[in-house]
Order: sequence, then C-alpha cells, then structure tokens
Amino acid sequence: MNQRISILVATMTGTAELVADEIGEVLVARGVDLDIRPMDGLGADVFAPDRGYIICTSTYGHGDVPDNARALFASLERARPDLLGVCYGVFALGDMTYADTFCFGGRKFDDLLRSLGAIRIGERMEHDASSGTMPEDEAAEWAEQWFDQYAVTVANA
Ligand SMILES: Cc1cc2nc3c(=O)[nH]c(=O)nc-3n(C[C@H](O)[C@H](O)[C@H](O)COP(=O)(O)O)c2cc1C
Repeated sequence: MNQRISILVATMTGTAELVADEIGEVLVARGVDLDIRPMDGLGADVFAPDRGYIICTSTYGHGDVPDNARALFASLERARPDLLGVCYGVFALGDMTYADTFCFGGRKFDDLLRSLGAIRIGERMEHDASSGTMPEDEAAEWAEQWFDQYAVTVANA
C-alpha cells in the first residue's frame, strides 16, 4: 500500500508553498499518496496515526507562527490530543537576521507535536533566508532523506 502523507503549510508570503510543492514532487515520485493543505481552518483533529505529516512553516512577528497557522496551533494547545503513533517532519523557514527567534515557527510546532506524543522523523530542516540560498532549492534533497527515514520507520512499526 502507498504511504499517505500530508504536507501542512503555514506561510505569509507564499515561500513555504513553493517549498511544499518541491517536497511534494519528491514524495509523489516515491509513490506517496500526497495531500498538500494550507493550515487555514485546520483543527487538532487533522492528525491521524495512519498518515505521515510534514509541517512546512515560516516565522513572523517575534518568533510567531504565520497567521494561517494560529488557529491550528491554538487548537492543539487547547485540545492536547494524544498523537501517539503520529510521525512527522519539519521544514522551517526563517531568517538569521532575527537571531533570537530564528525558525521559531517550525521549532514551536516541533516542540508542541513532540509534547503530544508524536515522533519526529529526521532532523528539523531550518532554512535561513539571509544565507542567499532559496529554500525551495534545498527542499528536494531534504525530502529524499526525510522519506528514506520515514519509510524505514513505518516499515518497522
Ligand atoms: C515581518 C517579518 C518578521 C519575521 N520574523 C522572523 C522571525 O522572528 N524569525 C525568523 O526566523 N524569521 C522571521 N522572518 C523571516 C521569514 O520567516 C522568512 O523570510 C520566510 O522565508 C518567509 O516565508 P513565507 O513567504 O512562506 O512566509 C520574518 C519576516 C518578516 C517579513
């Protein structure tokens, strides 16, 4: 059976969407049944143990998640669902110009999901917009490595 994976996207100006599309191309080529969803309107019930998740989020304000992720984040904090068995990855977009809050959007989701019992697969990717590289150019390589680790984890579960 094909793996089922959702990429949940939080963005202000669309860069994370480009990243999600790049990650998505890799996953589809690997046979994944893929779903790319903006976080707008999502609640804590979006997570299910029979799917994998990639959180693709930028950071705004003073280390905040983007506006379209606020409701989902608050819903998870409020409902505190048991996410045991849920596997996820994080691709965080940020800018080291904001050194004190670098990639906090992704870090906050990572910390919250882990505190709810979910298991992060692979390393959290943290892209620095001040590095001169484009996050969408780094997304495919990260996605290949992430999916290799995800597939092994799911096969051994
Ligand atoms: C007003 C503003 C605030 C930002 N605050 C942060 C921040 O606190 N930490 C961080 O790492 N990046 C911060 N960034 C950088 C963005 O997260 C980064 O440019 C990202 O690539 C934007 O992705 P998006 O187009 O998907 O929203 C900020 C950018 C802007 C314009």
